[in-house]
Parts: sequence; structure tokens; C-alpha cells
Amino acid sequence: MSAADRAGAARAIAAHWPAAEPAPARPRARLFLLGTGQVGRALLARLAGMDPAGRPLLVALANSRASAQDGLGIAPALALARLRPGNGEAGWLPAFAGGAIEPDAGVPIIVDATASDDVADRHAGWLARGVHVVSANKLGPGAAQSRADSIASACSRAGTCYGIAATVGAGLPVLASIDRLRQGGDAIDTLQGVLSGTLAWLFERFDGAVPFSQLVRQAQALGYAEPDPWQDLSGRDVLRKLLILARACGHRLDADAVDWRPLLPSDAGPDGDRLDAVMAKQLAAARAHGGVLRYVATLGRDGRASVGLQALAPTHPLAAPGCCNRVLVHSSRYREQPLLIQGPGAGADVTAAALLDQVLAIAQGPRMRC
Ligand SMILES: NC(=O)c1ccc[n+]([C@@H]2O[C@H](COP(=O)([O-])OP(=O)(O)OC[C@H]3O[C@@H](n4cnc5c(N)ncnc54)[C@H](OP(=O)(O)O)[C@@H]3O)[C@@H](O)[C@H]2O)c1
Repeated sequence: MSAADRAGAARAIAAHWPAAEPAPARPRARLFLLGTGQVGRALLARLAGMDPAGRPLLVALANSRASAQDGLGIAPALALARLRPGNGEAGWLPAFAGGAIEPDAGVPIIVDATASDDVADRHAGWLARGVHVVSANKLGPGAAQSRADSIASACSRAGTCYGIAATVGAGLPVLASIDRLRQGGDAIDTLQGVLSGTLAWLFERFDGAVPFSQLVRQAQALGYAEPDPWQDLSGRDVLRKLLILARACGHRLDADAVDWRPLLPSDAGPDGDRLDAVMAKQLAAARAHGGVLRYVATLGRDGRASVGLQALAPTHPLAAPGCCNRVLVHSSRYREQPLLIQGPGAGADVTAAALLDQVLAIAQGPRMRC
């Protein structure tokens, strides 16, 4: 179907189907959204606020229970209402990219706003088939090295883009800066970061007056922590982000090569009393040397990596007050004084904004893409 035919058909359908998208003036990005949780909904809200003439055409969306698909476009504001159960993951996920590949229909882009390993496992296949992927899901770029290798080789064979800015620092220009530095001939000497907004919030407030587990409950009540606090306290999320950063710096690294120290031993589970005792001891030890506690990810030039609690001098750039993500980069040009990138590194809205930025860059064409 030509673009003109599609536009005509869309106009005809829009007259009878108010949830349909206004007809596109020209081929543009065709968006397939996986995940309608906090981030997926924030993305839909952003799309709904855009000028329809310039926004990508949303042609499909799905969560784990339901899906909707319409080649003529789905109005973002009404997209959730168009989800229909009974056609979920098992039925249509494998065929997702099949629907996306339609020559001349616009640039196909799948947005992964899930935390699903099954979805992440499909990234390489989609990329190999000519579909660009933009992901907030760390299980694509931050799982096994073999998966990251498959993704990289699919992109280079098919000329597709893998947009992962949202996976670290919710789109803060961390990965982009590392790419730029390396493209400009810099070697990344070391990298250190506070990469979990939740843990940054907790350690900024933890002064011993209130037990650590009570602060965790406060963080949950305020929506800063995952419903399952162990997701945050284990540091696993930080570990995945460090793997993503390490690979961006050119290292090949798997999780088992990282010196990863959760707040509690992995066999302890989220045991409040034990957590309080361990944290009180750590705080006392840090204070004995005039330090403050921060959960830090570190990457050395040789690729040696660690994730764990550290006692930092209060003057250390990663110890400054203000709850956010911070990354310090020492590279060839930033040897004396490191580059410091900081800002809000969590939240559905900034994450959705980062996803949309990369979708729009890919939609602009090859020069802007990856
Ligand atoms: N929230 C943040 O501030 C933030 C920041 C940075 C990165 N992220 C990352 O962004 C991703 C989404 O986060 P979120 O907070 O939006 O999570 P969420 O609220 O739990 O939403 C996850 C969505 O994924 C859907 N889903 C799960 N498995 C699926 C599958 N196999 N096929 C299709 N959909 C599937 C879920 O479906 P149901 O609705 O059916 O359960 C749900 O709609 C995660 O990877 C997270 O780590 C989040």
C-alpha cells in the first residue's frame, strides 16, 4: 500500500473510529510499544502531547496480558483503552517484528518498556530483521555478554540502532558522553558512579537516628523504592548498569567477574533486623574515619569492576548531598579533573523522555540514528 493510499484509508477510518490516529502526512517512524506500566504510560502521555504531524505512528502496544495492533495508527491518548486481553505474549510477541517489517511504511521501532527477560532475549532477532529497538529494559544490554554480543552483531549486520540511553541514569548523557569520548580517541581510565536513585536517597538520609529498614519502608511509601525492596537493596540493578557502562567503555564483562557486594549476603534475603544491624555497623565504621556511606559502582581501566558500599570522604564528588545519579569519568582528556555527570537518574517521566528522544533521533534518518 502506498503512503497516499494509507493516508486515504486512515482518513476514512478516522471518520468512523475516533480512537484512530489522524492520517500521517508522510511515512514516519512506526512504533511498537511493549510495556504499559509506569514508563510505558509516561511515554504514551508524551506522545499524546506531541503535534500529531511530527509524532511517530503508534501501530501496536502490549503488556503481559493484552495487546492492540492497528497499522493505521492508534491515538496515544486512547491506546490503553484499545488493549484487548487474550492476545498476549504467547500469541503475538513472536510475530511482533513480522508486523513491523513493512517496506516503505516508515521506520519500524520497537520500544521495550518492560523488565522482561523474554522480551530482552528477542532484541537481537528484531534488530537482525531490520527493526530498531529502543529499550529501558536493562536485560538486553546488561545481561550476559553473549546476549550483548548478539545484539551488537545484529546491529552491524542489519544497520539497525539499539537505543539504550534510558537504561543508565534514565537518559542522563552518560552513555552518549562515553561514546563521544571514545570516538574522539579517549581511553576511559576509570569510572565511578552512584547509579541507584533509591540507594542514593537511603544513604543520604541514613544517619543512625532511624533504623535503615524504616527508611526503606519510607522510600517504598514515597514510591522511590521497588515494591520488592530486595530489588534495590541487592544492588543487582546497579550491577546491570555497571555491565552496560563497562561494555560501552569497550570491556567484555560478565556479572560473575564483578566484585558485587549486596547490602546483605545473598542468602539472607530482605531480613529487616539483620539489615539494620549490618548497616549500623557499616555506618559506625565509616564515621570512625570521617566518611559517609554510598553504594558505588567502579570500573578500572583494566576492566576490573566492583559494586558495593563504600565509605567516601564527605568532600568526594559522589558524596555530595542531593538525591540523584552521579557518574565520574577519568579519561585521557579528563585525567586531572574528572568529568562529572549528574542529575535525576530515575522516574518514569525522565525515562520515557529518554526513550522518545532516541525514537525521534532514529526516525530522522541514518545520519542521526545511532
Ligand atoms: N520506573 C522508572 O523510574 C524506571 C527508570 C529507568 C528504567 N526503568 C526500566 O523501565 C522498564 C519498565 O519500568 P516500569 O517502572 O514501567 O515497570 P512496570 O510499571 O512494572 O511495567 C512493566 C510493564 O511491562 C509489561 N510486561 C512484562 N512482561 C511483558 C511481556 N512479556 N510482554 C509485554 N509486556 C510485558 C507489564 O505488563 P503487565 O501490565 O501486564 O504487568 C507492564 O505493563 C524496566 O525495565 C525498568 O527497570 C524504569
